[in-house]
Amino acid sequence: MSNEDDHPAGIEAISVYVPQNFIEATEVAAANGTDPEKYTRGLGCRRMAIASPGEDAVTYGCEAARLLLERYQSDASAIGLLVVGTESGVDGSKPVAAYLHGMLGLDCRCRVFDTKHACYSATAALRIATDWCRGHDGRRGKALVVATDIARYDLGSPGEPTQGAAAVAMLVGNDAACMQLEHFPEAVYAQEVMDFWRPNYRHTAVVDGKVSLRTYLTALENTWDEYQRSSGLQWHDYEYLLFHVPFPRMAWKAFRLLHERYGNGESPEDAFSRMVEPGLWACRELGNCYSGSLYLCLAALLERVGQRATGARVGLFSYGSGCCAEFFTARIGSSSGIWHDRIGIGNGLRRRRQIDYSTYLEFRQITERMEGNHECQAGLASDADAAVTFCGTREHRRLYRFQAPTAGAESTQRRNSVNAQVANVLR
Ligand code: HMG
Repeated sequence: MSNEDDHPAGIEAISVYVPQNFIEATEVAAANGTDPEKYTRGLGCRRMAIASPGEDAVTYGCEAARLLLERYQSDASAIGLLVVGTESGVDGSKPVAAYLHGMLGLDCRCRVFDTKHACYSATAALRIATDWCRGHDGRRGKALVVATDIARYDLGSPGEPTQGAAAVAMLVGNDAACMQLEHFPEAVYAQEVMDFWRPNYRHTAVVDGKVSLRTYLTALENTWDEYQRSSGLQWHDYEYLLFHVPFPRMAWKAFRLLHERYGNGESPEDAFSRMVEPGLWACRELGNCYSGSLYLCLAALLERVGQRATGARVGLFSYGSGCCAEFFTARIGSSSGIWHDRIGIGNGLRRRRQIDYSTYLEFRQITERMEGNHECQAGLASDADAAVTFCGTREHRRLYRFQAPTAGAESTQRRNSVNAQVANVLR
């Protein structure tokens, strides 16, 4: 047996942070004077997670990683690599990963950095992490990959109903209990295109919607063809298909394109319910969480199908505007029962709260005022159960307050000292 078979690199555990606030898509439609059916049926959007001013990509990423380490009783000191995929960074230079390194109390020998390529960034991070694990056979510890993003579009714009937020954390190692990545040649598609972007001076994305849909589907066709050619896999080899989900109907458009060309006798609707729906339910609740979207689908699939899916092959399509895309496959690991009830989506959804349109506007206005302001206070608290809150900015420094214990005595010490600094500065 090869070393690859002994130690299949992949995802050992996965955890999702569900933001505390959400708004109904129909409420946004009413405010925009749009037929709600356009959002709910036309785009498939039901609800969107909304970030409060005390939340950002750092607090979300920290929550997801902290929950992962707690739920799986993973040792923070055994993390040798932390890579954060995000397009909602809070600083032009300092990576989100550096904040998380401090908040989680990771070892100073742990390598930390962010990856960026729109929604593709977490796939780039996962690729780096699995290669790193394969390269040293676990001797240098495990890798932590975090995808954390907040999707914001202009008020009243076509993109507004496709907003969302969430963070997904994945423990990557050579004992891939959760998902083993299959080792076929890569199928990547890249093209310089202005389909979706966010200039540094904006807090909302700019989109050429039709170009973005077209490019997404071109990238899917190219990577699918390439992957089937190099792997020899065929349609019937797949139990599940997961897509990057900017809005749920996009998954249907993507699936239909493949089904028309390769599907067998089963109707596209039935095949979609069987192969795609089990991973799509969380996206309807949280909206587009950019880098985390594909991995939210993976987590949702694992949470829904549990142990029944052990050994099943999953095809994953990752797309990042700009653009870079990749198709790859993975198999669901054998100890699925362990992680099934620890992923946290269902629990997170049960404890969140609905906000109305005026609160949504208030959150946006405060957040917009704070951005670009080097002396400000967030004012509004975030998730009451969250470990970390963004408090504001003083002297160009972002300040975070820890509210709940992070793992380990060293981190408790660090937390107390950070809190003391925050208290001093905000006084
Ligand atoms: P739009 O152009 O206003 O919508 O915005 P539309 O007019 O095309 O309508 C959408 C669908 O609703 C259509 O269905 C309509 O027929 C239907 P389709 O023809 O597509 O099947 N519709 C209705 N249905 C029922 N009742 C009604 C009704 N009216 C219309 N009354 C758009 C759509 C996606 C462009 C917009 O939401 C947008 O700009 N979103 C953001 C960009 C995006 O999500 N692009 C997707 C691909 S790019 C990507 O995935 C990357 C991304 O995640 C970023 C990253 O990589 O970081 C975005």
